[in-house]
Amino acid sequence: MNRTKYYSLSIVLLTLVVALVIGCNTAPQPPATQAPAVAKIAYVGDNTCKQCHPESFETVPHTSHYQTFKPLADYTLDKPLTPITIFDAQNTEKPTSTTLDLSKDKVYGVMVNKYVIAEMPAQAGFKDKIYRVGALKKVGEKWTVEPAKAADIDKDGKPDWTAESFPCGKCHAPGIANASPNVGMSCESCHGPGAAHASAADKKTTMTNETARESCLNCHQSDPSKDAKTGVFIANTHYGTRNYFASKHAQSSQLNGCQACHDPHKANTNGAGILADKPADMCAACHAGKNFDLDKLMWTNPTDDRGHFTKDHSFGAMKYENLGDDPATKPIEITNPTMIDLIKKLLPELAK
Ligand code: HEC
Ligand code: HEC
Ligand code: HEC
Ligand code: HEC
Ligand code: HEC
Ligand code: HEC
Repeated sequence: MNRTKYYSLSIVLLTLVVALVIGCNTAPQPPATQAPAVAKIAYVGDNTCKQCHPESFETVPHTSHYQTFKPLADYTLDKPLTPITIFDAQNTEKPTSTTLDLSKDKVYGVMVNKYVIAEMPAQAGFKDKIYRVGALKKVGEKWTVEPAKAADIDKDGKPDWTAESFPCGKCHAPGIANASPNVGMSCESCHGPGAAHASAADKKTTMTNETARESCLNCHQSDPSKDAKTGVFIANTHYGTRNYFASKHAQSSQLNGCQACHDPHKANTNGAGILADKPADMCAACHAGKNFDLDKLMWTNPTDDRGHFTKDHSFGAMKYENLGDDPATKPIEITNPTMIDLIKKLLPELAK
């Protein structure tokens, strides 16, 4: 597929997904009825892949992807877990509380060494099913659990705890929504559901590398978007590959996508999924004699309040100073005319 087309298509798809998610949050939920017998897209989990692809397990579990969501049991805690009383941040008008026993109830795990993610007991009547119920903090050699942000919901002068919704799961714990045996990243997060492949006689056509190659942008959403109401272009501040679409790399058919520089299966000696230990060596493999200053070329956005690392991937096509990212506009608005022209040229879908 034409790369530019593919990236534009991914925006359209992402916009649809966002619209769906927003729709789901606001629309009243239809009553649960008998679901028609549709074949479920089935995720089998890493242990099944391991039976036939043991070599991948020597490297893949050591990548950052696999560290982004871990079980609470992986952390040495400073004190035993106690039950916490929490309120629903989604429903502050009608503050109902529930008690969650972190040692017994359904705790999925910990995202980016910080957010404790749990499922609410059904009888609690919370608006969502899955919440961020607390933060994990490192104190010396051990970790301490702090229930999610304090708030005096019943105005009795005592702080209660508020459980926040979990919009981060799609990328950081994709297995939860997919009902996969692995709640965090797994082989199937990139390769897609594997049940058919695992049981099929024909292994070659039931699982191809193409799906995995195109999976990166599901989470590393890279392109700018357009505010549907105002028509203003918005920089995607949160993901490391921002502006990749604008690079000569994205436009060149000589490159093998993200894999020209990244190894999705193996971390280098610094723990990064980069094909060389020194990134500059990787550039030199194709650009002999050029001495790129990567710190300057791949700038980090200082206004990213979510703390994603977000290095620019336009390789010089978009300079931070040119984005129009000044205090007078919202940090994500793109106001520079040259930049807007570039976006319209490379992402024709957005120009409409
Ligand atoms: C019962 C054994 C078996 C299981 C289970 C299995 N695979 Fe495979 N897989 C194979 C075989 C055999 C091939 C074909 C290899 C070939 O002929 O090149 C294959 C091919 C693949 C390919 C395509 C390779 C290529 O060169 O196109 C991928 C990707 C893959 N498997 C991933 C997975 C993942 C992910 C899982 C777990 C969800 C999994 N497999 C489970 C046996 C298995
Ligand atoms: C971050 C995404 C990602 C994850 C996670 C991932 N893979 Fe892959 N995998 C890829 C990509 C991309 C390719 C295609 C490589 C290519 O184009 O040459 C691939 C290729 C493969 C192949 C084909 C043979 C090869 O090595 O080229 C197999 C088999 C495979 N993966 C199995 C697995 C298994 C098993 C796991 C889990 C332990 C896993 N993968 C996890 C992205 C991923
Ligand atoms: C299901 C979502 C998802 C998919 C699919 C995915 N990633 Fe990631 N990726 C993440 C998340 C989340 C992190 C942050 C991990 C962390 O630090 O906790 C990350 C981190 C990374 C990093 C930085 C850490 C490192 O290992 O150097 C690279 C590079 C990367 N991904 C490349 C890829 C590539 C290439 C693909 C496609 C083959 C891919 N990713 C597919 C979610 C995803
Ligand atoms: C659309 C996918 C996506 C969503 C949704 C998402 N993230 Fe991320 N996140 C990523 C990717 C990809 C990375 C890897 C770094 C990067 O590309 O910036 C990352 C990295 C991070 C990091 C840095 C990890 C590290 O090791 O330093 C933090 C912290 C983080 N995300 C928090 C969150 C929080 C909190 C939410 C929900 C409010 C969230 N993310 C929602 C894709 C996503
Ligand atoms: C797999 C080969 C390959 C690798 C690895 C590679 N490049 Fe490129 N690079 C290309 C190709 C092909 C082009 C497009 C040439 C064109 O169409 O003009 C390009 C274009 C560029 C350009 C824009 C044109 C120019 O020469 O100013 C820059 C800047 C650049 N690359 C920087 C880098 C940096 C920095 C790295 C390392 C992080 C890197 N490249 C790694 C192949 C590669
Ligand atoms: C031309 C080479 C090249 C290509 C192509 C490329 N990257 Fe990168 N990427 C890099 C370099 C270099 C770094 C920074 C390494 C460092 O500073 O340690 C990086 C860093 C990252 C990081 C880590 C977070 C950060 O910003 O430091 C993520 C995530 C990432 N790339 C994802 C992707 C994805 C997804 C694609 C495909 C859409 C892609 N990259 C294409 C060279 C490349």
